[in-house]
Amino acid sequence: TRVAVVFGGRSAEHAISCVSAGSVLAALDPDRYEVVPVGITRDGRWVLHDGAALAIEGGTLPEVTDGTPVTLVGDPAGRGLAVLDAGQAVGQLTEVDVVFPVLHGAYGEDGTIQGLLEMSGLPYVGSGVFASAASMDKEFTKKLLSAAGIAQGDHVVLRDASGAVCPDPTVLDEDARERLGLPVFVKPSRAGSSIGITRVTDWAQFPEAVATAAAVDRKVVVEAAVPGREVECGVLARPGGGLPDASLPAEIRLRPGTEWYDFDAKYLEDAVEFDVPAGLTAEQTAAVQQISRRAFLAMDCRGLARVDFFLSTDPGTGADRWVVNEVNTMPGFTPISMFPRMWAATGVSYPELVDRLVASALD
Ligand code: DAL
Ligand code: MG
Repeated sequence: TRVAVVFGGRSAEHAISCVSAGSVLAALDPDRYEVVPVGITRDGRWVLHDGAALAIEGGTLPEVTDGTPVTLVGDPAGRGLAVLDAGQAVGQLTEVDVVFPVLHGAYGEDGTIQGLLEMSGLPYVGSGVFASAASMDKEFTKKLLSAAGIAQGDHVVLRDASGAVCPDPTVLDEDARERLGLPVFVKPSRAGSSIGITRVTDWAQFPEAVATAAAVDRKVVVEAAVPGREVECGVLARPGGGLPDASLPAEIRLRPGTEWYDFDAKYLEDAVEFDVPAGLTAEQTAAVQQISRRAFLAMDCRGLARVDFFLSTDPGTGADRWVVNEVNTMPGFTPISMFPRMWAATGVSYPELVDRLVASALD
């Protein structure tokens, strides 16, 4: 089976995608797969890549810069990647059987490359156009999950009186500020790895936080903080269909001095501890797995997803309240990322995991 592993890309998560791809490439068994690594530069050029140096080295993030330019070909007579010559004429074609878009964020995890691959007739790993687009957008994720009866934190999408998206801090009125309380998290609606997010502890910081988020996405979401433990769970489609499998959940615990799980805490600093699996009761584990499967189905996901939760307490009854923060349709695959580690703890090794993902794309 020839697999094109696509990574990098135009989103702010370019570097994390490279690191994820490094791990995926290492896990694809060379006896079973012929791998074609394809990098997308920050400005959107597709290039053949040697698959090397895709790691964070001494705090420096990797990047796709150059390589032989290629283009995607979706001709029924031969689907794959064709080398472009200097005049941008299509040259030699490398046919591929399946594409693994290890891309995070915009132009990768948001339905856009999925649309391109659908039109090209190439099978690919992961969710389709709709689930990718809806899961990338925090506003619509919340709407769909709420409709499926899955608890959501209180939030406001910044819009003007006409309903148009409007990254103007003054559209959040006094009543909304009082209701949300402090701190709030100000987020770009479509982004990942906490890029563009500010934790606001004083309303005086709010205008700058809105500008920071709006630089990533004009649609800005203001979320109330959900007090509680931070828990994640992996979902994986089952070969041949049926209900997806859920992994053992994991917990993220911030070390003292770390305020929240931001980009640096995620990838660059030794700021968090990961409990894989999480220290939860059997009932709590079963609850988080069941809600994760429901969230996967509610978002119409395919292949894989990581569902991120806050475990809080219902103030009335004292019972557990599982709030879904988001659904990631292409979760991180970096060496410290939770998705592969949760599956390893569940008994699915990294090579088995990528086998299942490739198989599910070809199902
Ligand atoms: N968006 C990052 C890669 C994650 O969810 O793991
Ligand atoms: Mg995310």
